Amino acid sequence: MAKDRSDFPSTPEPLEPSVLRMLEQVRVPICVTDPNQTDNPIVYVNSAFLDLTGYTEAEVLNRNCRFLQGPDTTAESIAAVRKAIVDNVRTTIEIVNYRKDGSSFLNALQIGPIQNPEGETILFFGSQLDVTEKRAEEERKLAAEMEERAHRLRNIVNVMTIAVRVTAKEALSVVDFAKTVTERLDLLGRAHFSTFERATTMPLRDLVETVLHAYAPHGARQARVEGAGIELSPSQLTPLTLALHELAANAVKHGALGTDEGHVEVVWTDPRPDGRFELTWQEIGGPKVATPDRENGSRIIRDLIERSGGTLVPDWRPEGLVVRIELTP
Ligand SMILES: Cc1cc2nc3c(=O)[nH]c(=O)nc-3n(C[C@H](O)[C@H](O)[C@H](O)COP(=O)(O)O)c2cc1C
Repeated sequence: MAKDRSDFPSTPEPLEPSVLRMLEQVRVPICVTDPNQTDNPIVYVNSAFLDLTGYTEAEVLNRNCRFLQGPDTTAESIAAVRKAIVDNVRTTIEIVNYRKDGSSFLNALQIGPIQNPEGETILFFGSQLDVTEKRAEEERKLAAEMEERAHRLRNIVNVMTIAVRVTAKEALSVVDFAKTVTERLDLLGRAHFSTFERATTMPLRDLVETVLHAYAPHGARQARVEGAGIELSPSQLTPLTLALHELAANAVKHGALGTDEGHVEVVWTDPRPDGRFELTWQEIGGPKVATPDRENGSRIIRDLIERSGGTLVPDWRPEGLVVRIELTP
């Protein structure tokens, strides 16, 4: 709704027409107010301001900017703007504002004084940035992270419980039980921290073996690992670590690692010229598998792998789960 404003009917005295022509081109909403008039009214707005708020120029000129506020605007945000004006300083404040049609947006408002050569404040400028989507996206990301963490915690507690139960069944004495269970929990703890808190690189084999040996109630004998030497990049390490912890925890709870005879085979291809490689997780000798009705865990890890540019495809074969993971460099 850009209109012809070449004559700048609202040109405030101290602002050069060339400056106003520039402000008109800028796609950031901008307004200028005059603090030397009663109630600091708007004396200039650019087209981007009108586009954002849905008002016409006539509807906003000579009014204080507070008409943009509404029911969800907090008293704290208003007080912070008021204080910046009184203190005569530049500041940025996030404040809930409303368009003419009543819809709200989160305004990352920046305001600041404009001074003359004598250092007197003659005008105030304000720029209004709609950050609603940005904040919503950040919140979605945080919620997904929290969900993933909670899920991971539930998994690890489950696996610890199973480790204690399996050890108790096999232990010959209390002393033997205490020793074995401590070793197992220590191994799990180390697998957790050494993989999750290592933001650098790691050989793929080390990662697979660390996780599998720690989760499998019977340790290394329940794991077969095969593939060329691949050094995982940081961007591959995080999603793959999460995926392997998730798969191992589920295998202990529902799959091949939950039975004495069951084991897991993890094999991977040599990287292709473009650096992609495929890793296959296959459970053998476990209980009969049924496709789960809830896909919580596998959804989380699939999302993670896909966000890093790879793919994860589970195949709930009755004789054992097979998961193919393709990773990009
Ligand atoms: C240049 C300038 C731009 C402003 N822009 C906005 C704005 O976009 N949204 C808003 O809610 N308040 C804005 N304000 C703040 C209000 O005009 C007013 O100062 C604030 O509500 C605090 O004062 P009050 O308690 O008298 O309302 C702006 C203030 C100035 C000086």
